[in-house]
Amino acid sequence: MKILITGGCGFVGSNIAIYLKKKLRNAQISSLDNLVRKGSRLNKYRLKNYKIKNYKFSIEKYDKFKKLPKFNLIIDCCAEPAIEASKKEPDRVFNTNLVGTFNILKKCLKDKTNIIFLSSSRVYAIDKLRNLTKSIKIIKPLKINKKIDEKFSIESASSLYGFTKLASEKLIKEIFFGTNLKYIINRFGVIAGPWQFGKQDQGFVSLWIAKHLLRKKLSYIGFGGYGNQVRDVLHIDDVCNIVHIQIQKLDKINNETFNIGGGPRNSISLKNLTKKCQILTKNKINIKKIAYTSIFDIPYYVTDNKKIFKYYKWSPSKNINDILSDIYFWLKNNKKIRNYFK
Ligand SMILES: NC(=O)c1ccc[n+]([C@@H]2O[C@H](COP(=O)([O-])OP(=O)(O)OC[C@H]3O[C@@H](n4cnc5c(N)ncnc54)[C@H](O)[C@@H]3O)[C@@H](O)[C@H]2O)c1
Repeated sequence: MKILITGGCGFVGSNIAIYLKKKLRNAQISSLDNLVRKGSRLNKYRLKNYKIKNYKFSIEKYDKFKKLPKFNLIIDCCAEPAIEASKKEPDRVFNTNLVGTFNILKKCLKDKTNIIFLSSSRVYAIDKLRNLTKSIKIIKPLKINKKIDEKFSIESASSLYGFTKLASEKLIKEIFFGTNLKYIINRFGVIAGPWQFGKQDQGFVSLWIAKHLLRKKLSYIGFGGYGNQVRDVLHIDDVCNIVHIQIQKLDKINNETFNIGGGPRNSISLKNLTKKCQILTKNKINIKKIAYTSIFDIPYYVTDNKKIFKYYKWSPSKNINDILSDIYFWLKNNKKIRNYFK
């Protein structure tokens, strides 16, 4: 089996590539990545150690892309994943995330290639997610029991990032319609783990630990600046595991969309994340309050894993403490990597 991972030098793509290389002994794994993300060069060297080739060009360039060999499966992990880029770099977000998917699908159609698409929880309507809390200022810890399933509203705005993900999902269904090609769409919540080069607007878990280790500053941004916003977090190993299972069962389970995340057990507020980072690193740092809330930000997201469990009998195996300690030791033992967060 020949597998191409687009965005293969990113956090998720590189981890999936190496995991599959170890698990699928007869598979040939390749990556396509233009290395635009900070840290992706380091991931490229990791891939090289496993003899995984990276094609270095932009997914926007179909003329180059169509000349690559045929693959049986493309795992699409290529995106600009930061929500705030929707405001700052709309063209890049649109071209990478949506035109990129279109190019991937044209190649799938030409070569008869199946696809596993990494979508996002951010396809869901911002206003409906905001309605889950009483006020935009969250002064006290949230007490919400709601889990978000695949039927949650997608009707109103979700940021340009969310739009490109939802439009990509639609495009997959459109282009594969009437063919025998198979797809899986995974709407992941927050993913975290080693080899994520987190930033304030994307990958906050690794950023939080790194800044504590380095004794640098952080900010609670939005919702009054109290740090009470909540997310569920999924370990990257659990992501690799479910994708591997999906590949093995693709003939039987396909053309479905799943919400996949850490779930209630792995949900945490920024404030509680700070407490855990203080215990892990034994450092206490200054955290500024920024009350202003970006129009794209949401106060709460916790995944309902009911459907993915029903289809695959799968649920996350690693808890929030496993996630934090794996990131901590990855950073603690590697000064060069730690310095990427300075
Ligand atoms: N990390 C998360 O918490 C999370 C959550 C839900 C969904 N996702 C989705 O998972 C996928 C992977 O996310 P990630 O966290 O690994 O992001 P990442 O930024 O670490 O990886 C994306 C990779 O794509 C590459 N890339 C960007 N633009 C490109 C282009 N035009 N041509 C070729 N390569 C390009 C980057 O260099 C990077 O290596 C994305 O589709 C993202 O939307 C991620």
